[in-house]
Amino acid sequence: MEPRRSTRFFIFSVATCRESVRTSFVKPEKIVVFTGAGVSAESGLNTFRDSGGLWENFRIEDVATPEAWARDPQLVLDFYNLRRKALESVEPNPAHFAIAELEKEHEVVVITQNVDDLHERGGSSNIIHLHGSLLEVKSSIDPTYKIPYPKEGLSLDHRCPRGGRMRPDIVWFGEAVENFEIAIEQLQQADKVLVIGTSLSVYPAAGLVHEAPAHAEKTIIALDLDFIPDDYRFIHGTAGEQVPKLASKWLEKG
Ligand code: OAD
Repeated sequence: MEPRRSTRFFIFSVATCRESVRTSFVKPEKIVVFTGAGVSAESGLNTFRDSGGLWENFRIEDVATPEAWARDPQLVLDFYNLRRKALESVEPNPAHFAIAELEKEHEVVVITQNVDDLHERGGSSNIIHLHGSLLEVKSSIDPTYKIPYPKEGLSLDHRCPRGGRMRPDIVWFGEAVENFEIAIEQLQQADKVLVIGTSLSVYPAAGLVHEAPAHAEKTIIALDLDFIPDDYRFIHGTAGEQVPKLASKWLEKG
């Protein structure tokens, strides 16, 4: 089945930051975990498209595009300062920990659309962020200049040494996805692919599920999905419940 066109969004893809992923893999099975907002939902972070999700209360074009930043930067900052604040009071949930546990026996790469750091805090070591991070802010005139997200929140007064306004280190709609080529490479080498908590409606990230080789065992865990990609087994349920179950099976059996 094809995704409904109305729920597809596109972000341009570009390869960057190959060196950010460790390459010293020794374990026999390679598990690539691809996550979205649903994996962090039980930690207390809102998803985007579920009922009550972020995009019900905010319009993408008001807060998550370069045009929004040019038109009303304060509104954009208000939105991301709230996201950053929310991150401070949450913890990884059993799904994040179970993904990290898999590293005991397997080579595990996490590819995430999430901008939180819950995979890192859950103990995963190889994490590829596609849509940026809430941990840092970057210069709007020199994206290589990054500093930690200010504790008091980002304001219009924060500037880089060259005078450019600092902005969230987030990939907005219409911008280049980060680490996309390396994510494709990782998926193409997978023995198992585990997709968790994503509506698969934002491209190019969602297209990654099709990069897995034919022989790979492919599983999706989520609550609702508009479509299930070919060859994927769908496990309906919450990440916090279903991921630890599956992970312990994989750790027993290898
Ligand atoms: P969505 O909000 O689009 O989808 C969340 C998915 O998680 C849905 O399929 C839910 O059924 C599922 N879900 C919700 N709670 C869950 C739980 N407890 N356990 C398991 N699954 C659960 O979020 P994403 O697919 O991550 O990008 O959204 C993709 C991108 O759209 C985001 O990275 C963000 C957003 O706009 C940008 O802002 C650039």
